Amino acid sequence: MKKKWWHEKIGYQIYPKSFLDTNGDGVGDLAGVIEKLPYLEQLGVDILWLSPVYPSPMVDNGYDISDYENIDPRFGTLEDMDRLIAEAKKKNISIIMDLVVNHCSDQHAWFQKAIADPKGPYGDYFYLKEGKDGKEPNNWRSYFGGSVWEKLPGQENLFYYHAYAKEQPDLNWENPALREEIYKMVNWWLDRGIAGFRIDAIINIKKDLTWEDLPVDGPDGRGFLTNSITRMQKRDGGTKNGIGVFLRELKERCFAPHDAFTVGEVFEVDREQLEEFIGEDGYFSTMFAFDPIQSYKKGTCQCEFDRNMNPDEWKQDVFVNQKLLGDIAFEANIIENHDEPTGVSRFLPDYAQNPTGTKMLGTISVLLRGIPFIYQGQEIGMQNAVWNTVDEYNDINTIDQYHTARDAGLTDKEALEACSRLSRDNARTPMQWNTQENAGFTTGTPWLKVNDNYTEINVETQDTDPDSVLNYYRKLIALRKSPAYKEVFAYGEFLPVYQNTSSVMAYYRKTENQRILITANFGKEAVSLTLEYPVKQILLSNMASAEPSLPSNDIITLNSCEVLVFELETL
Ligand code: GLC
Ligand code: CA
Repeated sequence: MKKKWWHEKIGYQIYPKSFLDTNGDGVGDLAGVIEKLPYLEQLGVDILWLSPVYPSPMVDNGYDISDYENIDPRFGTLEDMDRLIAEAKKKNISIIMDLVVNHCSDQHAWFQKAIADPKGPYGDYFYLKEGKDGKEPNNWRSYFGGSVWEKLPGQENLFYYHAYAKEQPDLNWENPALREEIYKMVNWWLDRGIAGFRIDAIINIKKDLTWEDLPVDGPDGRGFLTNSITRMQKRDGGTKNGIGVFLRELKERCFAPHDAFTVGEVFEVDREQLEEFIGEDGYFSTMFAFDPIQSYKKGTCQCEFDRNMNPDEWKQDVFVNQKLLGDIAFEANIIENHDEPTGVSRFLPDYAQNPTGTKMLGTISVLLRGIPFIYQGQEIGMQNAVWNTVDEYNDINTIDQYHTARDAGLTDKEALEACSRLSRDNARTPMQWNTQENAGFTTGTPWLKVNDNYTEINVETQDTDPDSVLNYYRKLIALRKSPAYKEVFAYGEFLPVYQNTSSVMAYYRKTENQRILITANFGKEAVSLTLEYPVKQILLSNMASAEPSLPSNDIITLNSCEVLVFELETL
């Protein structure tokens, strides 16, 4: 595999709205990110992905952009952004932005011009279609519920397409003029000094232009739009001549000349397409490894996912994924992001939802092959919040799910419970900095409530406790990047081991002259394992006690929630 500048890096996602508010308006800002750069440097992260900070009406928290070449005043100014890029650079930290180009905001000038003159050039920046006798052009259901079609304001029978909220009209990538605008904008940001992009919802930019109805898959009489994507790929024999044409052009016009780092949010492609998307000559540098965190999401409604992940299933999914990747590509490994519940609340059984279990989960995930992306607060073990009323939610998707659940006959309590487990707001509660009011996030009223557990789980308290989750993450990251081991953690082969031992998740990372064993016990009871190779040394342990002692024979015992990282002989 050809080495790339980002292969040995650690990513960190910032959700700026919830990171740190420096002016008391209750919303995090770029000055807050700048203020915390020393904290991030100490943690050891190298690439910061900022969720959108562009001007936005915030219907979908910034994923509805009304101006691509500016900063929303809530977050600061373009000068603040330049300052962030420059200050980060001094610390060898790269900034990547969120590229949201499947859709813009209905407040974007392009859409306003399309409304004013649907037959003019800007009408063709969007998908405008005649309805069928005043009804929507087809039966597709959007991601956030309801039809993908909305009447263009002022029109009787002309609709526009939106895969997400109706305030997020989809952009027409078939139109070369639109594509030129996008490339210009992307290059404008790259020239400003950002290192690349996280690429939002990208699989949606290619539409099935037959617009044929989908098989109905819900009581609303609609078919979920993602089925149109898979149907189209099947018909076209893959993606190369469909979305691939756009993605290659985007890469060649923007990313390649800048040697940019790009991480795609890519769903609805098969594992066989990995090489095409993120191989040596792929469209992106990498993409998030969603399969292992989403495989049990069978339905389209959050309330259908009513259980925590079973560690043994998760293990199988992670291993299958790592195996498939092999030497073809690097994926970006995550246990959470701003669209998912927190990893601790999702992956850990109740008895493991404590600092020890949290460290175990982090170790397993960060030492996988690929580039780890840590989500803000993961490094202190932030957890899902308790949601008491629907008014406490902000997320458009959760609120929609709540109403869907109510319409299906659930009581208020049942609907709240059903939504709370996977609500996107779980990840969006403000970062917990200290024990002061609002966890030190703001001196004003936070835009989303702070998790009540901030007095226990916060950066300040953990900073001074050598056994804290935070100090453990610092050690874990330092180990992964250490001169002696960075090669094996970046490029070493991934080999599952003890695969059939229930509740044990273990793997080797191996190069010609190094063999590392990462081994964790997710179970309630202690387990003993027979080592296959002699131990050289223990590199990391999540047990609070003093230095773990080397096993005297080839048998090791792992207590409940214990994780151990060994260097073994290579023999
Ligand atoms: C992506 C984002 C999500 C957003 C959606 C629409 O999935 O991660 O937060 O709602 O795209 O832009
Ligand atoms: Ca602010």
